[in-house]
Amino acid sequence: MATTTTTLFFCFFFIVFIAGAAASAVEEVEQQQQAFAPEQPLISRIVFGSCANQSAPQPIWNAIIDFNPQVFIWLGDNIYGDIRRPYKLFGKERTIGPWKNVPRFVPASETEMQLKYHIAKKNSGYSLLRKKTQVIGTWDDHDYGLNDAGKEFSEKNVNQKLMLDFLDEPQDSPRRKQAGVYASYTFGPKGKQVKVILLDTRYHRDPLSSDGSILGDSQWSWLKKELNGPKTEITIIGSSIQVLSNLSATTGPLFYMESWGRFPRERDHLFKMIASSKRNGIFFISGDVHFGEIARYDCANATGYPLYDITSSGLTQAVEKVIPEPLAFLVEVAAWLTPTTMRLISTSCRYRSCTYGQTNFGAIEIDWGVTPVTVKVEVRDVNGHPAISVNIPLSELQNQGSNDRNTLKVAELQRHCTLERNLPWITRYRLAFLFYYFLAVLLLLVVGLSYAAIKYTKRIFGKCKYYHHNSVKISVVQISPVICQICSSSFKVSQEATGSTFYEEKPPLQCFSPALPRRREISCNLILNETKDWIAIPNLQLEVCPTFWQALAAWPLGTATVQRGLLPSGRKRKMKSLTSIGMKLLA
Ligand SMILES: *[C@@H]1O[C@H](CO)[C@@H](O)[C@H](O)[C@H]1NC(C)=O
Ligand SMILES: *[C@@H]1O[C@H](CO)[C@@H](O)[C@H](O)[C@H]1NC(C)=O
Ligand SMILES: *[C@@H]1O[C@H](CO)[C@@H](O)[C@H](O)[C@H]1NC(C)=O
Repeated sequence: MATTTTTLFFCFFFIVFIAGAAASAVEEVEQQQQAFAPEQPLISRIVFGSCANQSAPQPIWNAIIDFNPQVFIWLGDNIYGDIRRPYKLFGKERTIGPWKNVPRFVPASETEMQLKYHIAKKNSGYSLLRKKTQVIGTWDDHDYGLNDAGKEFSEKNVNQKLMLDFLDEPQDSPRRKQAGVYASYTFGPKGKQVKVILLDTRYHRDPLSSDGSILGDSQWSWLKKELNGPKTEITIIGSSIQVLSNLSATTGPLFYMESWGRFPRERDHLFKMIASSKRNGIFFISGDVHFGEIARYDCANATGYPLYDITSSGLTQAVEKVIPEPLAFLVEVAAWLTPTTMRLISTSCRYRSCTYGQTNFGAIEIDWGVTPVTVKVEVRDVNGHPAISVNIPLSELQNQGSNDRNTLKVAELQRHCTLERNLPWITRYRLAFLFYYFLAVLLLLVVGLSYAAIKYTKRIFGKCKYYHHNSVKISVVQISPVICQICSSSFKVSQEATGSTFYEEKPPLQCFSPALPRRREISCNLILNETKDWIAIPNLQLEVCPTFWQALAAWPLGTATVQRGLLPSGRKRKMKSLTSIGMKLLA
């Protein structure tokens, strides 16, 4: 009995144990998406994207759904979780300027973060995508919780949970227990496998200017295992920040961006780890920068084979959207002027800069049917049309130890093996030079214009204004006190128009101004033989004082009118106003 019971007990235990083991094995297979599962469908269409403002319209999902991806990869800034204060130079909360008193970005509370994720998740386009497509992803700073934040950020564990909830990560997933959201997935049947490695560039990252670590020790050892693990035909490494392009080297000192380039030692470590893993078929995808770009780093001696980094950013955020549309071309020009050594320049780009500054997503198409297998990666616009693209034959991504795979010309090859920081300084800082040059020109222009404006205003309102004329005709209707002064240095009255006789040598206008302060009404006499006549006065100086203008309103009509020739040609408009004004003359 006892034996039977024991046997039964053991049998029962054995069955439970087997079942448990089987279950956990299945779970593990599911969780880690292990390669050997033969039933894995062939994967040939993958979309990746980043930088989606949950509160903004997200029309781009339509184009993504039309592409019919089997996998969608979030590359960070999946929501804008942190709170961004507007630029404010004055007022209570000043976010810029030397007297700035509050940070521009602040973390949101857990509830606010949750709400934002909720808004993002129930977006109709995204909901539709989730129904038919497996969604995986990593994060960047704004969904991590704070702009440009790294390992020091205190809310990282809370936000990790929220982010994994957003991605529907199973409650018992090991990803919920580790420090950081890094993960890897293997798709497809044996012989046609795609591995996706998603890095966490936030959780362990040292301060930006430290040249410290991005991934941290635990993630590095994990990555090493992933790279040295079972081979796959294609390995896509997703990094929220750009891996190859080091824009900061050429946009500084104007502005700096986050990238692996800012951590040169860490980046070298990554390249070395890839090279020493002898793993073929690796390329990078990235986000963060609010434009699309394809970069290629090609130093066979450094990486074993050319490395590509296809950046798509963002789904709603775009550099060309931050300035008014008519000026958007300036961003294009700046992108074109920015020196670059890594960017792939090809004639198939929509714009000369070979960047794309409007909303976009990354589309990966793998053609398993051709030899060699080819990966086409495109940065597509909101309508699903490609703006920049690259075709990468897998044969190119092979550790062959020789350089004959290269399809690029020697000069191009050299460019793609040159770090931005090694460019000649005149090239490297081209953008900054241009910027400061234009700033200087602008400043000069502003100073010049202000000077002119001040002078002009002073002339009108401050000082009296002199007009010189060769010939002026004055019709004297009535002789009365003049408001402003008519003087003449060499006064000659011609008789051409009237035949009347006037003073010829002596000034007929006697000015009584000297004793009076400027800007006062000044009276003077025009001594004429006759009235109601036309006179032409050569070399007349007419002084117009502020009071003259002020007096206009109260001007009684019909006393004396300056008819024409008062102002030199080209000043017709002023003449018109003067003509209608007339002048009071005193007999
Ligand atoms: C997101 O979109 C909303 C609505 O358009 C806007 O008010 C907000 O400033 C945007 N946030 C970011 C980070 O662009
Ligand atoms: C990237 O640019 C920054 C800023 O100029 C520089 O400090 C860094 O060394 C560069 N990194 C690489 C890998 O060239
Ligand atoms: C790799 O080759 C490039 C170009 O030939 C050279 O500038 C660079 O120093 C080499 N790097 C190493 C690590 O040998």
